[in-house]
Amino acid sequence: MNNTNGRQSGIPDCVLITGATGGIGKALAREYAQAGSRTLILQGRDSRRLQEVESICTGLGARVVTQLLDVRDLNALTAWLEDISHREHPDLVIANAGVNINTGAEQQGESWDDVLRLLDVNVRAVFATVHGVLPAMRARGHGQIALVSSLAAWRGLPETPSYSASKAAVKVYGEAMRDGLAREGVRVNVIMPGYVESQMCFDMPGPKPFLWSAAKASRVIRQGLRSNKARISFPFPLNLGTFLLAVIHPAVSGWFLRRMGYGA
Ligand SMILES: NC(=O)c1ccc[n+]([C@@H]2O[C@H](COP(=O)([O-])OP(=O)(O)OC[C@H]3O[C@@H](n4cnc5c(N)ncnc54)[C@H](OP(=O)(O)O)[C@@H]3O)[C@@H](O)[C@H]2O)c1
Repeated sequence: MNNTNGRQSGIPDCVLITGATGGIGKALAREYAQAGSRTLILQGRDSRRLQEVESICTGLGARVVTQLLDVRDLNALTAWLEDISHREHPDLVIANAGVNINTGAEQQGESWDDVLRLLDVNVRAVFATVHGVLPAMRARGHGQIALVSSLAAWRGLPETPSYSASKAAVKVYGEAMRDGLAREGVRVNVIMPGYVESQMCFDMPGPKPFLWSAAKASRVIRQGLRSNKARISFPFPLNLGTFLLAVIHPAVSGWFLRRMGYGA
């Protein structure tokens, strides 16, 4: 299948995923391999887990290119993305790598070092990913970039203030980039998952209503990206609830959150 055929069938021929060793990234890699994407470019930090995803996807018939990289090394990240963009021409890039931190079991607060590390991965590396792949997509006049935000972007949670803020930054950035790039043929989508089974999710304190499997989330993400939805947010009840929390007065939303067991 060449790139044009891939575009016609709605299945991207070449997909690049950062954080492909994690719960959602691995499920996305499997989802696109199963759907028939011909090439997957998978980034991770852990060689053993990266090989594991690679062998799943090659078993499903995909050609896999792997890259071991810490996305906090912005120079290395940008250089790799520019190079791979010219060599492989990814049709779809999913900026998925992310970390979470929380205020601790005793609500002692986030450590400053952890906050900086989180901002490096969740914000700077995500923006750098866009900058790394955009010039080649612009030159070709097509491409798709999906940014993984979170429902926590609607209204910050007391357990995860920095994480919530980082995901709000990604949401706002993605929406603005989408509008700015629409006329150039480059599509930008913001993904806002609720609770999805992964190490990050299991490590998080607080209730986890409407928990989804990573396989289900990746299926919904692929369908949303195929339809070029501006915002792919799920599950519906949690999306509606967190959206409403964002539009009411923060004192009232804070009261609701406490009643639901957040920040208790
Ligand atoms: N699971 C949820 O409930 C949920 C909800 C909303 C949004 N999200 C978002 O979904 C995305 C994927 O998260 P997940 O749930 O799949 O969590 P995960 O299983 O912890 O996966 C996170 C991925 O990001 C990678 N990563 C973290 N720091 C990195 C770094 N410095 N350099 C390179 N890669 C790095 C991880 O690699 P290592 O394993 O090597 O660290 C892993 O592949 C994140 O952006 C997250 O914020 C998740």
